[in-house]
Amino acid sequence: MKVALLGYGTVGSGVVEVIRSNSESIEKRAGKPIEIKYVLDLRDFPDNPINELIVHDINVILEDDEVEIVAEAMGGINPAYSFAKSILEKGKSYVTSNKELVALHGAELLEIARRNKVNFLFEASVGGGIPIIRPLNQSITADEIYEITGILNGTTNYILTKMKNEKRTFEDVLKEAQALGYAEKNPAADVEGHDACRKIAILASLAFGEHVNFEDIPTEGITKITQEDMIYAEKMDCEIKLLGTCQKQDDNVFARVSPMMIKKTHPLAMVNDVFNAIFVKGNMVGDLMFYGRGAGKLPTASAVVADIVDAAKHAGTNIMTIWNREKIELKAKEDVRIAYFVRIERVDEGIEARINEVFGEVEEVEALAGEYAFITNVMKEKHFAEKIEALGDVKVISKIRVQE
Ligand code: HSE
Repeated sequence: MKVALLGYGTVGSGVVEVIRSNSESIEKRAGKPIEIKYVLDLRDFPDNPINELIVHDINVILEDDEVEIVAEAMGGINPAYSFAKSILEKGKSYVTSNKELVALHGAELLEIARRNKVNFLFEASVGGGIPIIRPLNQSITADEIYEITGILNGTTNYILTKMKNEKRTFEDVLKEAQALGYAEKNPAADVEGHDACRKIAILASLAFGEHVNFEDIPTEGITKITQEDMIYAEKMDCEIKLLGTCQKQDDNVFARVSPMMIKKTHPLAMVNDVFNAIFVKGNMVGDLMFYGRGAGKLPTASAVVADIVDAAKHAGTNIMTIWNREKIELKAKEDVRIAYFVRIERVDEGIEARINEVFGEVEEVEALAGEYAFITNVMKEKHFAEKIEALGDVKVISKIRVQE
């Protein structure tokens, strides 16, 4: 089975390494040898044996009937989107780790694949090496899934873990995550939550069968989280994690990406470093959790190669994936109910009375010098915003949602 690879960066070079290291077992599982015939990249690699496979023109791959599977690890929408369309229309399967592409055009590309009796597979687009797309699509099919909550970004989980355990600065740990090949080309996509947002949009679309537009998902990253917030988390017996969630209640779907305070006893609290974990709740199976390395060369490449094997096994047949183009209207974020942890400047001794007046009863948290800290009751986001507004000139140092 001849494969073309698009992109020879971190993940692309990992794909070559995985196929070469495990060629025998991969051949057994695929039922035929898997061979990389071309590698498309803008660059040449003169000192690397891969150079003899390098091509710069996608038409070489499109026009070669021997190539039945194309694996893409370039990232970004352009030119991946037009490549994916032409490759699928040519009757070749397309396998990708590109979450931007899948979140934006997944429904359409699945439809094109179906029409052409080939496959569009994207296991590596969410959770790095963790199998989650295939379980959602092929295993948990007896259940109504009503919630998926997960740590979906390796870079930010790595940063939060090192900031807390090693007291290192955000910038310092981010540099390390980049050097380890975890971060996006533009790491703002990681730290501002955009990467996790696309991933939860993909999972929600698969869980609910209709398109969840990532642009509709309220998203906050971790750039405002400080060492002081982590001290408070410790006092509250909590960890701070960047969580992506989608939940369905009756016919209402809501989704969000934000840092959350979660109790240390919560299974997601124990997920550290570059690891990701995805918690799935089904109405029959109950709780499931998927855990593993969420970023990095070989774990992500392992998921890409597993899709190549699946595409090889299903040559000539389309694996049905339900993700309609019809868009789900998400519940307005203002109406979602949640509790907040809040830190404010202690301007005077009257501050507690003032907080009680505005927020009603709150749970006080032992505060750092010069501060007052508390956890609110569960309330609608819009009511929380109104109450913060009502505090007037009281300086809010930070506010972090609390997982129930
Ligand atoms: N930058 C991403 C992360 C890579 O850190 O999770 C894997 O999608």
